[in-house]
Amino acid sequence: MKHAIRFVLNGEELAVEIDVGQTLLQLLRDQLHVTSPKRSCEQGECGACTVILNGKAVNSCLVLAVAVNGKAVETVDGLERDGLHPLQKHFQELSASQCGYCTPGMLMAAKALLDSNPNPTHEEVKEGMSGNMCRCTGYVRPVEAVLAAAREMRDSTS
Ligand code: FES
Ligand code: FES
Repeated sequence: MKHAIRFVLNGEELAVEIDVGQTLLQLLRDQLHVTSPKRSCEQGECGACTVILNGKAVNSCLVLAVAVNGKAVETVDGLERDGLHPLQKHFQELSASQCGYCTPGMLMAAKALLDSNPNPTHEEVKEGMSGNMCRCTGYVRPVEAVLAAAREMRDSTS
């Protein structure tokens, strides 16, 4: 059975018809062809599918699409406005990404963290990224990149 929902995706209001059992990850990737949230475990274990839902980082493989009705979803596609977002810039500069499969999810977990806590400690960044697995780069450089982005964002608003 189909169900009509409306939601905002990266600032754009959308009206779509979904299957009741469909996940947000399926809606984004298979129906809307937004492929930045990656499909991997589909069990909430790896964080590759992380998006921001009403300000909170969520595993889109665990969220039913019907639950986003009336809400706002952000993916990494919405990060870049006038050039790279500081998180993207520092991931690039510090080589915090190799194959890049985990990177969109890491960036969205990091953005949700910095939106709620602009001055996180090293431990808070590690904790905020703890749901995002990386098979190549590891975690040292991504954490450094998030801290560097946080510094730049604070400096630019002071
Ligand atoms: S694909 Fe969603 S957590 Fe792994
Ligand atoms: S950069 Fe390859 S999985 Fe993280």
